[in-house]
Amino acid sequence: MPIYHQLGRVPRKRHIAFRDGNGRLYPEELIGNHGFTGPASLVYHLRQPTRVRSVRLLRRLEWKQEAERLLRHRHFLTARVKPGPSVVFDRLPLLFNGDVALSIAGPTQDDEVFYRNAQGDEVVFVTDGGGVLESSFGALPFRRGDYVVVPRGVLHRYRFDPGEVRCLVIESAGAVRTPKRYRNEFGQLLEHSPFSERDIRRPEWVEPHDEAGDFPIVVKKDHEFVEMTLAHHPFDVVGWDGCYYPWAFSIHDFEPRVGMVHLPPPLHQTFEGDGFVVCSFCPRPYDFHPEAVPAPYNHSNVMSDEVLYYASSEFMSRKGIEYGSVTLHPDGLPHGPHPGRTEASIGQPGTSELAVMVDTFRPLHVSAEALGIEDPEYYRSWLDD
Ligand SMILES: [Fe+2]
Repeated sequence: MPIYHQLGRVPRKRHIAFRDGNGRLYPEELIGNHGFTGPASLVYHLRQPTRVRSVRLLRRLEWKQEAERLLRHRHFLTARVKPGPSVVFDRLPLLFNGDVALSIAGPTQDDEVFYRNAQGDEVVFVTDGGGVLESSFGALPFRRGDYVVVPRGVLHRYRFDPGEVRCLVIESAGAVRTPKRYRNEFGQLLEHSPFSERDIRRPEWVEPHDEAGDFPIVVKKDHEFVEMTLAHHPFDVVGWDGCYYPWAFSIHDFEPRVGMVHLPPPLHQTFEGDGFVVCSFCPRPYDFHPEAVPAPYNHSNVMSDEVLYYASSEFMSRKGIEYGSVTLHPDGLPHGPHPGRTEASIGQPGTSELAVMVDTFRPLHVSAEALGIEDPEYYRSWLDD
């Protein structure tokens, strides 16, 4: 995230000697993406971050796609499944391609190990629960409705509050960023952007952990979990500064757009990645033309697979969906409001819908696991009652 941030102590200039009270150098580390040309932060540790005692392969990840794909509209009822205790290791795969992977997490306990995704950025949309994301950059509290954005390479660990937790995990091969058209040439979010820098929550300061011992770190790379045992606590940072760190943005801070007549989904865009976009459909008044039709028109989104994750059980144009539903309207087929929904939308003052949309530009595969929670009749749900 290109907003400069600083926590703790950093030396007056980068790459100069920075010592503790005993004259010992603080090891400096650059953490960023795209080598030395992307956004980065400079981090100052108590100990070398390279002090690895042992390495072992923990698990290979294999996302199986459905055996036979028949082109049709799809609907998956994710609220009816319990993915497993860990937010990192027990994600239920849903949809994926080479650019982006969507999965559901329902953690019931905190992981003890530290985790670094070295093959993708992660956007974790929290539909239920809250807690704190711990990382080398400090503590990032999160709550229901937050997008927690963890850039690749950031070592982190979730601490959840008591109670149920549900998340949609969006893992992106490319860097996740705010849409370019929302930013000026200097990187600042423009006045027409539906959110501003004030809505972007950054890590809070945490004192460094000065602790020797065995600390397992799990790194995800090339679809493998590799465990490395570090000889000290990895969150030993005395200070850092830069533009690369985990951050949070609440869907409730998105400022939805309303027009005279229906506005298309790009007006609701929140993030962009390589090969996909993320949009937020939030509660809002309807269009203000006296004859406006608030429900969307049918659309045939060729060269785009459209996924909707319903964070409330209401969505103006759909029937038969529930909290946690995921619909996939694939490339090549028209889709639109369910029967009666267009007429019913006319004259209504507004909607309280809450949904996250992921539009991909390459086709998505359906995972074998998703078949177990599929509503197989969904594609027939546009037939008249
Ligand atoms: Fe659509």
